[in-house]
Amino acid sequence: MLNLGIIGLGYMGRTHLGAAEKLDGVQVVAVADARDPGAVRFRGQPIPVYGDASGLLRHEGLGAVAICVPTYLHEECVTAAAAAGKSILCEKPFALHAASAARMLRVAQVFGVRLMIAQVLRFWPHYVRLRQMVRSGEIGAVRTVSAWRLAEYPTWGAWFKDPSLSGGCILDLQVHDIDFVCWLLGAPAAVRSTGRRAPSGAIDHVFTELRYPETLVHIEASYMMPRGWPFRMGIRVNGDNGCLEYVFDVSGNVRERERAVNGLRLYRPDGTMTDIEVSAADSYEEQLRYFCAIAAGNEWPVVCPPEESLGVMRVVDACRESAEVDGAVRCVEEEQTGHLRSN
Ligand SMILES: NC(=O)c1ccc[n+]([C@@H]2O[C@H](COP(=O)([O-])OP(=O)(O)OC[C@H]3O[C@@H](n4cnc5c(N)ncnc54)[C@H](O)[C@@H]3O)[C@@H](O)[C@H]2O)c1
Repeated sequence: MLNLGIIGLGYMGRTHLGAAEKLDGVQVVAVADARDPGAVRFRGQPIPVYGDASGLLRHEGLGAVAICVPTYLHEECVTAAAAAGKSILCEKPFALHAASAARMLRVAQVFGVRLMIAQVLRFWPHYVRLRQMVRSGEIGAVRTVSAWRLAEYPTWGAWFKDPSLSGGCILDLQVHDIDFVCWLLGAPAAVRSTGRRAPSGAIDHVFTELRYPETLVHIEASYMMPRGWPFRMGIRVNGDNGCLEYVFDVSGNVRERERAVNGLRLYRPDGTMTDIEVSAADSYEEQLRYFCAIAAGNEWPVVCPPEESLGVMRVVDACRESAEVDGAVRCVEEEQTGHLRSN
């Protein structure tokens, strides 16, 4: 049995708490939050609530933590959890900048603890299936990739609008698609991002180009959609022998995902179209199951290793720099993203 603690019981903390209820071999034994969340139950039983991470990290028998505090607190929490010897699942994005992520990875290595960043698309059945099909050559050489992720600002956390706390839309939202494309194609040689500034100063509607020798990649992300806009994400991969498209469209937030229009289709050059069958598993449950198996056993993450997540952070930093200077092309140095190139 893995004894798991959750630090930060907001939107994602509660998502992990709900996912853990469905998993065998996992027990959420306590949570921590700076604001009093009231009584918290796991499988119907009350569990202790600490006012800060340090109290939770001293909880007897605790084996692992899910870190779900706002992004600007990730480094502080990961450092404390690593020093306490716990296995760590840290919400995406890794940190505010790659330099912070590099320090966090180093501290996990020094203390010899497992660290995994919760890049959930690596566990999202449709994205996983699309990647399997592309990498097995199903659609031939990949020529173009388009991805999109369009939402209104999260209604539950004011910190999302402050770029010094969230990193803005490239880091907070587009990181999902940048991570997935890097997982699909490896690291790009160069990037270019342009965007529109919100009143807060954050660049919160962005168009990003990731440049590969044989493939054009274009990704759009926004937090600046009007109130009530359906959360929309998707990806289209066009190859010499067909096009795969995944569309996810839900009125409201991603938490309504069970009611989403949610389909992966393959279009062939001969005019045929096939709906691809995909597991109905919940991606957040899959992700937590994978992390808990690693934390309970003696393994290290291979689906989402922190070295790759650090490489992705370097790509994200380059996109943010590009957007700050209105779309200047930024090269991505090979030695900075070595783990991604060989994935
Ligand atoms: N994977 C996804 O789909 C996804 C979706 C949303 C958010 N996120 C990420 O998850 C993280 C958390 O986002 P959220 O939406 O849950 O935010 P949130 O604001 O809903 O929750 C954060 C919680 O952390 C608590 N907190 C703040 N400071 C704390 C501290 N020092 N110690 C303990 N608790 C503290 C807050 O009181 C709050 O309850 C962010 O990094 C965000 O980018 C991921």
